[in-house]
Amino acid sequence: MIDLLDAATFANGHPAQLYAQLRAEAPVYRNPERGGPGFWALTRYDDVRAVDRDFHTFSSEPTIMIADPGPEGMFGDAQMMLMMDPPRQTAFRKLLRAEFTTSASEARNGRLGRLASEIVDKVIDREECDFVADVAGEMPSYVIADLMGLPLEDGRELYRLTETIHSAPEAVAPGAGGEAVSAMFAYAMRLIAEKRARPGDDLSTKLLNSEVEGRPLTETEFLLYFLLLIDAGGDTTRNLLGSGLLALCRHPDQFAWLMGDLTQRLPAAREELLRFTSPVIYMRRTATRDVGIADAEIAEGDKVVMYFGAANRDPDHFDRPDELDLSRSPNEHIAFGGGPHVCLGQHLARLEIDAVLSEVLSRMSAIEVVGEPEWLPSTFISGPRSLRIRFRVRGNAQEG
Ligand code: HEM
Repeated sequence: MIDLLDAATFANGHPAQLYAQLRAEAPVYRNPERGGPGFWALTRYDDVRAVDRDFHTFSSEPTIMIADPGPEGMFGDAQMMLMMDPPRQTAFRKLLRAEFTTSASEARNGRLGRLASEIVDKVIDREECDFVADVAGEMPSYVIADLMGLPLEDGRELYRLTETIHSAPEAVAPGAGGEAVSAMFAYAMRLIAEKRARPGDDLSTKLLNSEVEGRPLTETEFLLYFLLLIDAGGDTTRNLLGSGLLALCRHPDQFAWLMGDLTQRLPAAREELLRFTSPVIYMRRTATRDVGIADAEIAEGDKVVMYFGAANRDPDHFDRPDELDLSRSPNEHIAFGGGPHVCLGQHLARLEIDAVLSEVLSRMSAIEVVGEPEWLPSTFISGPRSLRIRFRVRGNAQEG
């Protein structure tokens, strides 16, 4: 039986064959759920896109995770923006929208380049490293710390906590997920005190000084926004980089094509890596009324889950969808979602990815994966937990 809640289903990345089977035989598949009512799994591009946009019929409340929140996951009336519907969500999104536009993101580009260069400096002489921990994970941790006005070191620790939060409950020690959320909140409370005493030119200070619905943000709302930014911007970008480099190593012809003109070809390559690796596996919605999708009759209150990685391999939208084609154009993937919740950080994410890949690929050569990569035990976020690589320093006599 197909079970999209079993971490083993995603143990080696996106299950391309299984997605193909679902799209062909049961594009609106009823997946059972231990201790829950079950959910509808969508695997076709058009269905995912339509549901993501129709927030009147498919609500992001009470949560976008398949499991409903227990009492420990509730914060009174406060909610994360990701789990609100417009117009409330629009009001919260507006608070930081200007910080994430293409031009605001590009203004950070020089800084991103310097961070990428510092990160690669630390590993380049070793000629071997864990690409996920030593390179891919460093970038989003540093960037989030920079954005929020925290010491870079703290960004790293907060990112470690997000990994625990995203892991399947059975894959971490009992209670570890809850403890990680508490640690994150405790940190945010200290940050509020710090930024009130010493305001800075950063998103934390901006959020603390902003108003929503005609009143200042409450501490809980600040905490939830903070958690969302760290959570959404951390392991997504890291996983793209980890699975992206792995995909390059597994497709040497494509890798060679990219290296033929790294600067010119990187933008198209990065979009294809986003499509091919789709770091966010799913987002859930809840039906607000009875509605039909394909042959399925969805009842009010039913969970409807959009599988982005499956949509991104729909042959009705992509030629040879299971092939990595770095020159693919057009490439209208939905790795960043769509509709009102479309990834707020997508422009920044693209620049982070480009900064790391161009630094890594212009300074390392003969990159090879050592052993089998270990995959994250998650049904929500896809990427290798670790990826050991060996490489040479580009420009050295023994360069390959
Ligand atoms: C490769 C990297 C990334 C991927 C694949 C990704 C993917 C996504 C996806 C799929 C969504 C949900 C969209 C939907 O429901 O339709 C989302 C939302 C979001 N992302 Fe990203 N993301 C990435 C990086 C980032 C970064 C770097 C940031 C910020 C620093 C960020 C901030 C957010 C926020 C705040 C939301 C919620 C938006 C809302 O609820 O209105 N993301 N992202």
